[in-house]
Amino acid sequence: MRWHGDRLELLDQRLLPAEEHWITAEGAGAVAQCIRDMVVRGAPAIGISAAYGVALAARHAGGDWKTEIGQAIRELAASRPTAVNLFWALQIMEKEFHSCESLGEATRRLAATAVQIHEEDLSANLTMADHAIAFIGAERPISVLTHCNTGALATGGYGTALGVIRRLHEHQLLNRVYADETRPWLQGSRLTAWELSRDGIPVTLNADGAAAAILAQGDVKWVVVGADRITANGDVANKIGTYSLAVLARYHRVGFMVVAPSSTVDMSLACGEDIPIEERDGSEVRQIRGVPIAPEGVEVFNPVFDVTPASLIDVIVTEKGVVHNPSVADMRSLFG
Ligand code: MRU
Repeated sequence: MRWHGDRLELLDQRLLPAEEHWITAEGAGAVAQCIRDMVVRGAPAIGISAAYGVALAARHAGGDWKTEIGQAIRELAASRPTAVNLFWALQIMEKEFHSCESLGEATRRLAATAVQIHEEDLSANLTMADHAIAFIGAERPISVLTHCNTGALATGGYGTALGVIRRLHEHQLLNRVYADETRPWLQGSRLTAWELSRDGIPVTLNADGAAAAILAQGDVKWVVVGADRITANGDVANKIGTYSLAVLARYHRVGFMVVAPSSTVDMSLACGEDIPIEERDGSEVRQIRGVPIAPEGVEVFNPVFDVTPASLIDVIVTEKGVVHNPSVADMRSLFG
């Protein structure tokens, strides 16, 4: 994303990799629509965009600025339900805005806070990559498998799980990344494979159903994924299909690592059952780019996230540190 002070430009992720088209959002409503329609997606990127959306709301507000900014925050909060980074960022923006005494002050401070949220996310990604590399402790190149897109597109830059993969590559410790294509929205094939190929990182794309066969071959040492919300006991909501990978990893004795900034941790929820899971329209499964691939009108179940229980996770990596074999006590001692 590109912030210009008076507008936010978002690379339209729905068109990648075929087309690199930037959409300009000039107000909070346009940002909310971009989040709803998946122009921008990925938990941290959604939070950062929403923060810029609030900054834009202040720029356009008039005499009743407090009501208008408040409404913009509510509209942004209603854009998607699962990634807690959205609500985390909006809470920071709301707190900032409530302490402003004039519209001029709000316009300045909200823009500066959004930029800070963006910069801190990038820096968290870099720190997480260091923690993860130290934890993995590889002495020779390893292969990993990842799911969905957790790269620069999904974050403030660099990436969460993909940041770890980038860092392995930078240290010449990466043999190969297997990227699940990630049905139905294909974030793996359209976005992850695109990011990795552009950066010259060796990637092999696979259908989601091939993951078991890949892990059975014994080459992959870690499954590395991101997260959309992590609860107080270490349960993790992430892109649909993550839970099946965790089961497969445990069966094949492959490590399962979740990489996410602390803005993805929601200590107010006791466990994964409390996480609101977004269900999207059935047409995302029945069609690809408008082309039918299923009988018209067939009933579809399309939850876009699932919950991986903490018991299947070997390690959660955040910028604040790592939680090995997550438990309530360890989560509490790191995140309060
Ligand atoms: O529906 P999306 O594309 O917004 O899904 C979010 C994700 O990309 C992931 O689940 C991801 O692993 C966490 S975001 C780094």
